[in-house]
Amino acid sequence: MKRARVIGTGSYLPERVMTNADIEQLVETSDEWIRDRTGIRERRIAAEGETTCDLAEKAARRALKAAGVAPRDIDLIVIGTTTADQIFPSTACLLQARLGIHGPAAFDVQAVCTGFIYALSVADQFIRTGAATTALVIGAETMSRIIDWKDRDTCVLFGDGAGAVVLRADTKPGILSTHLHADGKHAGLLQVPGGISGGYEDGRDPYLRMQGSEVFKMAVTTLSRIVDETLEANGLSREDIDWLIPHQANNRILAATARKLRLPMERVINTVAEHGNTSAASVPMALDVGVRDGRIERGQLLLLEAFGGGFTWGSALIRY
Ligand code: ACO
Repeated sequence: MKRARVIGTGSYLPERVMTNADIEQLVETSDEWIRDRTGIRERRIAAEGETTCDLAEKAARRALKAAGVAPRDIDLIVIGTTTADQIFPSTACLLQARLGIHGPAAFDVQAVCTGFIYALSVADQFIRTGAATTALVIGAETMSRIIDWKDRDTCVLFGDGAGAVVLRADTKPGILSTHLHADGKHAGLLQVPGGISGGYEDGRDPYLRMQGSEVFKMAVTTLSRIVDETLEANGLSREDIDWLIPHQANNRILAATARKLRLPMERVINTVAEHGNTSAASVPMALDVGVRDGRIERGQLLLLEAFGGGFTWGSALIRY
């Protein structure tokens, strides 16, 4: 059977740095509170006019270069994003045109912070079934555009960025398994209430709203469960994991998952301090950071996991 191997990674952060001190100027908060409760020191914010597709393109070109793959070799593009440039066409179609690719499937998936894991899982299925051979999988977000910069419950947490991987069909893994879940009954705890079809009246505003402590509790218990599910599905134990590459929502959630795996924090790729929560971009950006600084090596076992609005959650186990 064909398996999907990660043959290149790339990421891109917008230039503008927004520190906690900058946020102190906007809302009643403090650098100390933000660091203490989340671990975030700063985040990047897209420039005016800079879109999710702009970030995705830069990350994609870096991943293609690292993989030694030309755009014409790509036969599938899947982008995890909640902050598409336009209602349609999809960001994946916009990116496809910029890369000069014509014909193969290109589409977005929307699973908020779990978006990259969902996108990776979809591309993995395409490759396993032989429907694609070389896939570009991206998580890209401009979360700053759906943040209410007067809402201290949310504006301290999020940032912008993009991460990408190139997958290629191979006889050896690669992606060992992916695990996707959702439970829509919790939709109200983390949402942008407004929308195209539902409108923006009667409290359905266009900004991200979150009941943070409820989401926090759900994230910790759910991510513990998915760690077990992933290991059991592959007949592996905690000791086999070389690197945990989690969604970068909050240091305390990362630490809880690492404790569950009995992994020291040195074995967790942690970009919370510099990136903040970049939703679907956070996992592929963290992966790229670990690959490029040499910590992640070929042959190692990587556990990627994420939890986000929906609720959605998921994981991917990768022999890198
Ligand atoms: N600055 C200063 N004080 C604040 C701030 C702020 N920005 N926000 C809240 N506070 C205050 C509260 O008013 C409260 O004060 P009180 O004790 O006087 O009532 C106190 O700080 C504690 O508030 P909590 O909401 O209980 O703080 P908590 O420890 O839960 O931390 C946080 C909040 C950081 C949001 C945390 O709950 C969290 O990380 N939640 C999960 C986020 C997440 O994982 N999201 C999923 C992915 S996101 C996606 O899918 C888009």
